[in-house]
Amino acid sequence: MSKKKLRRSGAKIMASLILLLGSLSYIMLLAVLNGSLGFVAAMGVTVFGALGVAKALGESIALSYGLIIGLAVGCGLLRGGLRYIEQYSNHYIAFRLLAVLRDKIFGALRILCPAKLESKQKGSIIAMITSDIETLEVFYAHTISPICIAVIVSVAVLLFVGFVSSPYLALVALVGYITIGIVVPLISSGRLKESGVKYRAEFASFNAYFLDSIKGIKDIVLNNAGEERKAEVNRRSDELLKETKRMKHRTTRASSFTELSVSLFILITLAVGILLVHYKMLSVGFMIVGVVAVFSSFGPVIAVSALPGNLTQTFASGDRVLNLLSEQPAVRPIQNGKKFDYENLEVKNLTFGYEKDVPVLQNICLNAKKGEIVGIVGESGCGKSTLLKLLLRFWQKDSGKIEYNGIDIDEVDSDNLLANVTMVSQTTYLFDETIEENLRIAKPDATQEEIENACRLASVHEFIMTLPGGYKTEVGALGDNLSAGEKQRIGLARAFLSGAELILLDEPTSNVDSINEGIILKALKEQKRKKSIILVSHRESTMAIADRIYKIKDGIITEAK
Ligand SMILES: Nc1ncnc2c1ncn2[C@@H]1O[C@H](COP(=O)(O)OP(=O)(O)OP(=O)(O)O)[C@@H](O)[C@H]1O
Ligand SMILES: [Mg+2]
Repeated sequence: MSKKKLRRSGAKIMASLILLLGSLSYIMLLAVLNGSLGFVAAMGVTVFGALGVAKALGESIALSYGLIIGLAVGCGLLRGGLRYIEQYSNHYIAFRLLAVLRDKIFGALRILCPAKLESKQKGSIIAMITSDIETLEVFYAHTISPICIAVIVSVAVLLFVGFVSSPYLALVALVGYITIGIVVPLISSGRLKESGVKYRAEFASFNAYFLDSIKGIKDIVLNNAGEERKAEVNRRSDELLKETKRMKHRTTRASSFTELSVSLFILITLAVGILLVHYKMLSVGFMIVGVVAVFSSFGPVIAVSALPGNLTQTFASGDRVLNLLSEQPAVRPIQNGKKFDYENLEVKNLTFGYEKDVPVLQNICLNAKKGEIVGIVGESGCGKSTLLKLLLRFWQKDSGKIEYNGIDIDEVDSDNLLANVTMVSQTTYLFDETIEENLRIAKPDATQEEIENACRLASVHEFIMTLPGGYKTEVGALGDNLSAGEKQRIGLARAFLSGAELILLDEPTSNVDSINEGIILKALKEQKRKKSIILVSHRESTMAIADRIYKIKDGIITEAK
């Protein structure tokens, strides 16, 4: 993560985030309403107290002492109940939101998959799923409502003080609210915003580096690069600490500035109150009521003033999440597209490059039909895996045609495509579940018999039976102990189990010995009667089973056998 600027303005981020809220906004409204009433009720306790004092000083107040005390106590009780509802709705929103946001992010990742995720830093996605979402939860549950509450309560107090006590006192309070709630935060927010964004960037970059180092620990040890890595981790950690300190320092300075302003405005209110009494523009009793009301009303604006520290982080998080949500996928899934039952594949003049004007494949022509094994050879990096990914529409082709039963791939329903075509890639990922569950992702309702048959075909059944729990063995319990060849054969078993009629194999035998290679090849030969198999391999012994072989060189394909 570089220290890049936000793409959107704060206001835009806030507006977009609120739009994301959807129907939860009604509950938010309830929380704001309760919060405002709660604050007013809390102030009611002191204000009714002041009214009592004013009455004792001889002001004509149309309420009896009993009623005043009753109202003060009532306000106190009401405050409790309202606070409860406010907290309840805020927490409800918070938890619902975490779920809604995670759902949206996973939805976005699902569409970006797999093309865009090849290049995205995994660390920053993990940071997004964990800390960014938490930050946004804070925004919704503890940022928007304080701002609304501050506005509502302040207006209520201004009206009350203006009409019951004195418009001058109300004016002082108004200037106070604007200073504390808007001017002070604006002055400090520039710097806070900057350090907030920096801090988040530093945090994400540290996470990504650390995660990367843990993933690559084997290669670090092998290359004896531990000391350098450690030094770099320390350096980045120091950097992060420095940034944290800087941010805390600025936050503290901003909050002491706020406290100072509050004290200042309390003094000014008192001074104005005394002057008003001195010039006989206000009675002592109503001066006390007005001044007490203003004193007790700064809470909500102080809460707003304390926000910028959070807000800057929120904006950075919000910006990142919104960026992800608006990121255009390399390929859009096709829903309700055309369906087919695989019979043949015809690739015509296919051209593709990951970047514009740098074609990896040019004018590729190739065909395959049921009952044959098609081989693809070529030097490392010539685009063999790329071609297989294009056949699955993991990337969008630049030009040419990829036709299944005569239907171009860009018109085929995405789910239908994956039901017909599957791939065993160069590395098979095993989830931290049992072997059986790992196989079952290819066909969730597979019977035990189907699973075992697929494993026999892939020459991995015998091996699984030697594991302590057989098919029920947890992959996690084996640690990293499955060999590359064993993983590869489990990947192959998945492909057989899936029932796909076109199987793309990217180096299926690169990690297995010649005995197992023989078994796998025999299985492929048996399978080919009902299916098409496209096979990428360097091994001549593997290529021997291909009916036809294509060779890719400098992006151009030629049929070789
Ligand atoms: N996601 C990507 N973004 C940009 N370039 C990529 C991406 N994936 C692969 N490439 C590049 O495209 C070219 C073809 O890569 P590809 O993986 O298809 O080669 P390959 O023939 O399968 O090689 P190997 O035999 O080593 O597996 C390479 O130059 C590679 O660096
Ligand atoms: Mg490859």
